[in-house]
Amino acid sequence: MTGSLLDQLGNLSDDDWGGSNPLSLSFRNNPYPGLRKLRETDPINQTPLGVWRLTRYADITNVLKSSSVSMTLADGSSPSFDPLDTKGDFHNFMLNMDGNEHLRLRRLVIKAFTGNAIKMMQTAIDEAVSKAITKGLAEGGMDICDDLAVDLPSRMICRIMGIPDSDRLIFQKWAGERTKAFWAKFLPESEQLKVRQAGEDLANYFEDLVKARRVSMKDDLISELIRAEDAGDRLREGELVIQAIGLLVAAYETTTGLIGNGLLAFIKNPSQIALLYSKPELIDNAVDECLRYDTPILFNWRVLEKPLNIGDKQLMKNSVLWLMLGAGNRDPERFPDPDRFDITRSDRGHLSFGGGSHYCLGNQFARMEGKTAIRELLTRAPNIKLLEDEMEWSNSFFRVLSKLPVEFT
Ligand code: HEM
Repeated sequence: MTGSLLDQLGNLSDDDWGGSNPLSLSFRNNPYPGLRKLRETDPINQTPLGVWRLTRYADITNVLKSSSVSMTLADGSSPSFDPLDTKGDFHNFMLNMDGNEHLRLRRLVIKAFTGNAIKMMQTAIDEAVSKAITKGLAEGGMDICDDLAVDLPSRMICRIMGIPDSDRLIFQKWAGERTKAFWAKFLPESEQLKVRQAGEDLANYFEDLVKARRVSMKDDLISELIRAEDAGDRLREGELVIQAIGLLVAAYETTTGLIGNGLLAFIKNPSQIALLYSKPELIDNAVDECLRYDTPILFNWRVLEKPLNIGDKQLMKNSVLWLMLGAGNRDPERFPDPDRFDITRSDRGHLSFGGGSHYCLGNQFARMEGKTAIRELLTRAPNIKLLEDEMEWSNSFFRVLSKLPVEFT
């Protein structure tokens, strides 16, 4: 996108976006009224960027299941990533691939995920959660965001990758900045520069880490990625580094969103805390309801390989679609009374992990962390009071809080 188009975008009002401008503060603070309006008034909506937004559950799932969609435009470029991005470039991350190329990378990474690195994680998660909550209880409160929702996923993904704890905070910073690569094409140049720099820093770091592991393997995911083999095939050096960066970014703030947004939903609905307290067996359902109710990823994308007639619209081949997962998750046609947070809801078919061949590869790992953090906090500290009325949401591609200070009463 040219600088001038980006400048024009800055001058567009929320109305130009049908009341749902993803770059606006009001959308960041609460996207759901705008998404609801879109779904009710213009469910297949063309944005000022030319991109189409789909907001109905059925339309989104049909596209996710379709075999006539791609992750890239007809010329092979990404509809979302920065074309000037160089090192640490997501163009070679599995999420940007189709067909056999995608399957090959996904298979190799899954092999690494079934190794020892993941098996050892539940104990590490239990320990980190218990420590954070014990400290919070001793202090009478905590910032759920910093002390648990950010701290746990950042510790766990670094540990699993084999990144020493002394480098964790710098990684947290790089990963947070690199998250914006998922829509860097639409960001102002000043932001793009930071995203590019984070990609370069991460790539340099991982290149060194891979070199070190080639000399001396350990029980971590980088070693498993080096070892991973599928019918004689292995990850090449550059591929390995990009998948590692992609995994780090995909795993970190998303899980922060699950824990932070989920606990916020509980605190605002104390009857659901009491229900979980009396029926702990509802925890798996509760985690899925957290994901449905306030998803960490509001939209993903696909490109049409063939024209598509949908609702009253005809979309041309090569159209870019944003699948508004946050809107589909609150579609009353699928989820009755969708704005109610209800952990007894039997329908767990939310869209928060996407779908089709790209369905989130880390969903089990994310659930493991989310389940432990949410269950332990609400069991050990069921009386929680928010210390602020207005929530501050982070300026991220993902939907994550900046802070969530609470008191235990
Ligand atoms: C609650 C936390 C998480 C959420 C909400 C989430 C959500 C998503 C979504 C929406 C996609 C895109 C799917 C699509 O376009 O159809 C995705 C892909 C992916 N996620 Fe997650 N994710 C989470 C955690 C994780 C974790 C912990 C990991 C790794 C440890 C991970 C690794 C990946 C990978 C590798 C992909 C790309 C898969 C592919 O292209 O085949 N995610 N995730």
